[in-house]
Amino acid sequence: MPAEIPTPISHPGETASNDIRRRLAKVEPHALRTFTPSLAVLAKSAGSYHWTPEGRKLADFSSGVLVMNLGHNPTRWWKRVIEYLQLGGLKTAGEFCEAVTLNGYNAVTEVETIATERLVALMQKQAGGKKCEQVLWAASGSEAIQKALWAAMDRRPGEQMILSTRYGFHGKKGLAGAVTGSEQDSERDSRVKFLSFPREECLNVARRKQPIDLKPYEAELNKLWTEYGNRICALITEPYLGGGGSFHPQKEYIQLLARFCREHDIVFIFDEVQANFGRTGSLFAFTEYGVEPDIVVLGKGLGNGVPVSAAVGRADLFANMHYGEASDTWSANPLASAAVLATLDEYETTEVMGQAKKLSAVIEKGLLKLNELPIVAHIRGEGVVWGIECAPIRNTPADAVAKACVEACYRGDAEGRAIHLLGPLAGKVIRVSPPLVMPVSEAEEYLGVMYNIFAGVAKRVG
Ligand SMILES: Cc1ncc(COP(=O)(O)O)c(C=O)c1O
Repeated sequence: MPAEIPTPISHPGETASNDIRRRLAKVEPHALRTFTPSLAVLAKSAGSYHWTPEGRKLADFSSGVLVMNLGHNPTRWWKRVIEYLQLGGLKTAGEFCEAVTLNGYNAVTEVETIATERLVALMQKQAGGKKCEQVLWAASGSEAIQKALWAAMDRRPGEQMILSTRYGFHGKKGLAGAVTGSEQDSERDSRVKFLSFPREECLNVARRKQPIDLKPYEAELNKLWTEYGNRICALITEPYLGGGGSFHPQKEYIQLLARFCREHDIVFIFDEVQANFGRTGSLFAFTEYGVEPDIVVLGKGLGNGVPVSAAVGRADLFANMHYGEASDTWSANPLASAAVLATLDEYETTEVMGQAKKLSAVIEKGLLKLNELPIVAHIRGEGVVWGIECAPIRNTPADAVAKACVEACYRGDAEGRAIHLLGPLAGKVIRVSPPLVMPVSEAEEYLGVMYNIFAGVAKRVG
């Protein structure tokens, strides 16, 4: 029996958007998208807003998928991307421009060199990441995770086992997929062993402020060491469970993992693909959590929309890989390098992190107010990355409540104020992660809009 293809999403009154949704559904498999009940069609975007083809304005509470931390299409950022590619001014030569090549495979470019030097300098000097010595570039988060794991696995023959914290998300492809989720998922890689992540202990903002009892986690780590010993080459974790439902652990838990790795000479890989560039309140989450990883994996916000990722870590680990082992068509391409440089310029010369701190306080206050509503079970988060766990109401399960809230935010309030959200995470958690540059007054206004829309859902659903 052929698989059933879902009916393309459409919304009443959206003639132009529905036409685009319908045309795309014919030529693109639905598997390419993560299910999002709104499936907004975005005609243009600036700062913290999108506009649909019908001209409807949507406040962006998602930043793509935590990518556009500096907002959509920042003018100064774009100008710099172009300047970095031309390095000294555009010279036209007939039909072609004399500018930096867009693919320097089997060669190197100066723009790549500067981007790599600047990223290392920023992570080492400003953020204190002493082990951030070299950059292994990639094009997507999962590729950079795979490269970080390869580096750890290449270190010593026979050391091929990887520890991974349960319910994490590190990507879908290759080894990144193998270290994602838990042993319950199908097709597990026998080299990967999962360990507990303290979800109960950080179930909501109040619970996270209480101390964590580390003893059970210490015991579990010791048991794994007794069982597998120095067959273990790496431990990978995230600062917080992002895709796994927005669980932000106490820092002491992450520090315990780092300590365990240090004591047993295990490569500690910190997946900041989502958290990097300011989401947790610091430029890099490893400083926020007080750890010094052997490899930090970056992505998403690193290129502010241009696909680029990186595993940044110890030179001695990367040295074990042979020529070509981590090369591919897009890694360290000049467009990505220019985007990274323009992004670093913004973080180094503007008050974006100060703005993110102010925004964080406003988001926390606005979201905690949602606790008044019967459809909200828990609020979790830090910095500018938050989750609203929905509660079941009457006959409606929490997943359906979350879906109804995302749809209602997309439709907007009576004054036409609408909010663009990601589809729910882990079924019932709504993510709130606007660009760090969203003005505080706008965040306040739209959090109020969200409250009223959710209150309407609470009355209606059931
Ligand atoms: C923490 C984390 N690691 C890795 C990835 C995978 O990144 P990509 O989708 O670019 O492969 C993601 C993506 O959401 C992520 O959140």
